[in-house]
Amino acid sequence: TPTAIIRNFCIIAHIDHGKSTLADQFLLKTGAVSERDIKAQTLDSMDLERERGITIRMHPVTVYYELNGTKYELNLIDTPGHVDFNYEVSRSLAACEGAILLADAFQGVQAQTVANAFLAIDANLKIIPTLNKIDLPHARPDFVIGEMEQALMVDPDEVMRVSGKTGVGVEDLLAAVIDRVPPPAGSPAAPLKALIYNSHFDTYKGVVVYIRMMDGVLKPGQRIKLMRTGREYVITEMGQFRPEPTKVDELSAGQVGFFTANIKNIEYVNIGDTVTDAVAPTAEPMAGYKEPKPMVYSGLFPVNNNEFEDLREALGKLKLNDSSFTFQPEVSDGLGFGFRCGFLGMLHREIIQQRLERDSELNLVQTAPNVTFEIKKRDGEVITVHGPQEVPDAGLIEEFREPIVRISFLIPAGNIGDLMGMCTERRGTFVRTEYLSQQRVILVYEMPLAEVIYDLYDKLKSVTHGYGTMDYEVLGFRPADLVKLDILVHGQKVDALSVIVHRTSAERRGRQVLKKLREEIDRHLFEVALQAAIGARVVARENIAAMRKNVTAKCYGGDITRKRKLWAKQAEGKKRMKQIGQVEVPQEAFLAVLESD
Ligand code: GTP
Repeated sequence: TPTAIIRNFCIIAHIDHGKSTLADQFLLKTGAVSERDIKAQTLDSMDLERERGITIRMHPVTVYYELNGTKYELNLIDTPGHVDFNYEVSRSLAACEGAILLADAFQGVQAQTVANAFLAIDANLKIIPTLNKIDLPHARPDFVIGEMEQALMVDPDEVMRVSGKTGVGVEDLLAAVIDRVPPPAGSPAAPLKALIYNSHFDTYKGVVVYIRMMDGVLKPGQRIKLMRTGREYVITEMGQFRPEPTKVDELSAGQVGFFTANIKNIEYVNIGDTVTDAVAPTAEPMAGYKEPKPMVYSGLFPVNNNEFEDLREALGKLKLNDSSFTFQPEVSDGLGFGFRCGFLGMLHREIIQQRLERDSELNLVQTAPNVTFEIKKRDGEVITVHGPQEVPDAGLIEEFREPIVRISFLIPAGNIGDLMGMCTERRGTFVRTEYLSQQRVILVYEMPLAEVIYDLYDKLKSVTHGYGTMDYEVLGFRPADLVKLDILVHGQKVDALSVIVHRTSAERRGRQVLKKLREEIDRHLFEVALQAAIGARVVARENIAAMRKNVTAKCYGGDITRKRKLWAKQAEGKKRMKQIGQVEVPQEAFLAVLESD
């Protein structure tokens, strides 16, 4: 069959276990690039990825390798290595028949190794268990193979051993890919069916769509249809990444490559969608398509209010390359005009903020993150809420619902007590434990996403001295006793300071916020009341005493330059004051409260 020489595979691994380094070795050993050309990490081409040393977006590469007189076409589809991008991992797995399951020969099986291995098993991929970094002097291959056997039901005899650093074992691994991974099953004669597993935006060519051909043949000039939206386009150019983009005359069933078709907006190109022929379409799209759903939201405001339009433009540019990121204008009485932005998770949020700061000169304030909520109103309507401002009056709410995740920790057995305590504190429900060995254990909980996003990862790292890892998936929404906590300054509600919290922590949280506000707001001629309230019920209260007249008369002696400086500083301070009723609240007060999480 024509696909007999094709192998499509990916490498799945925990962060830092050496996926990119190994991919570079494949390029070297197959002659796709020379030693001289190989940059630090060819596949992680995005600057930010290289800076942070993590794979965020997938980069495919096609290489040719001769074995026993046959020249094989090998397509390596890189997968992102972070829990925020799990859906993209699942789509890239759907484009493959096999997966190299890579584990660091010292660190062993980690939370992401397990999570990704199960995704690959679910996707029916042939798994090639592989130990990496066997050059490390402290490598402990038998121990790690034991863990693989226990956690992932791997046959010890099938485990390959490589070093991405020295290149040892890499050719054997390529041979194992050819030997063990089945060739793709599709037929060139069937109607066109191709899976979109990624895309990026090119200023000149429009959207570059990354596809895995399932059936049929695709050629320039052909009229295609994106099955989700029904939108039709004519193919202008096609190619493969070898690793540089290289034009081809056609792509046929089983192959991996890309096309352009003058698609102007990345939002029309959905990851997981199916491409078919507009004239002779396939009967059914590929299964498993999901709408990317942001789970974490926060407000983004320019410190300088007249930079609002610049911020809009900068966000628009980012969105060109990342359709899973969303933004909506938002007005806040504390921070002025800005945007409520949606992210897949906390890492995604951090990446977007860093890109914004790097690509534009904007000075930005990011408000405390919150998850998506669902609210069932008394009139029966169910609404989705992305921030405290969208919460209806308490009297209209029948039920508040929040996203729940199943979270797995892989930790040293000695830390199990600490971890369980942490999870209980965060409203977690115990699911199970599983010992990988006497020293290491998997601990599974169900827990509100809101309790995960703030600081759980940092806490895990500190409790386990860096050895613990975690991974989670969203299960769905469940009712919870949540409330909107409002902050009132001298009787006036300040929307930028409202938060959604669990009822049991409302009072503590309210006190924290009021304390900070009290530190930031100057004394006035009258007493200023600060209150935290749920609806009309005040749960915490602080006062800022009125100032005494003689305090204002404070004098700095005769040094006029020093006085001028003081005046200038006061004037500057004035500009950043926000009038809430009769009270002047400095901008810093908002930031102190919002950024405190
Ligand atoms: P993510 O993209 O974040 O998932 O990381 P990755 O899995 O691509 O890891 P990467 O290839 O960036 O390697 C992580 C670190 O391990 C780097 O410092 C590499 O130099 C090092 N490393 C990778 N392979 C080997 C190896 O075989 N031996 C040794 N000693 N170090 C290695």
